[in-house]
Amino acid sequence: MKREKPENLMRVSFPSRSVNESLSRSLAAAFAALADPTVEELCDIKTAVSEAVTNAIVHGYRNTLGTVYITAALYPGGKIVITVRDRGCGIADVEKAREPLYTTCTTGERAGLGFAVMEELMDRVRVRSRLGEGTTVTLERKLKSRSC
Ligand SMILES: Nc1ncnc2c1ncn2[C@@H]1O[C@H](COP(=O)(O)OP(=O)(O)O)[C@@H](O)[C@H]1O
Ligand SMILES: [Mg+2]
Repeated sequence: MKREKPENLMRVSFPSRSVNESLSRSLAAAFAALADPTVEELCDIKTAVSEAVTNAIVHGYRNTLGTVYITAALYPGGKIVITVRDRGCGIADVEKAREPLYTTCTTGERAGLGFAVMEELMDRVRVRSRLGEGTTVTLERKLKSRSC
């Protein structure tokens, strides 16, 4: 099947420092805002992206420093597809990791709800991961305001 060409496309990368969680929210918002979303759509996209980026930083790279890659694409009809990729430790069991309340964090700081939040806010969430190689989370949301 022929791949649809995006109407707009952004590729960015940054080091896995926690200050860049808020940078990723702003980048996602700035990109999505160009497609005339509702306030709710904009908030949802920002929140989902920052959950995925936080995971890349705190779980993917843990105590190491790596690079987080984001691509955002807007397709004709208003579908936004955002990927968040790390080359960190990877996830042993993706199905388990996606279960609400599942967390490998032992300090009590994290509730294990990141994937649940992403799923709640987006139309589709895909996770590809290989142990030792990294993780790619793909978030999709169709903007209702844009019907053509
Ligand atoms: N990018 C990632 N790299 C490695 N492990 C991850 C990544 N994203 C998520 N995980 C694993 O999935 C679990 C669940 O993630 P999440 O639902 O966001 O909950 P939390 O971040 O609160 O632990 C994490 O505890 C972690 O073990
Ligand atoms: Mg999380």
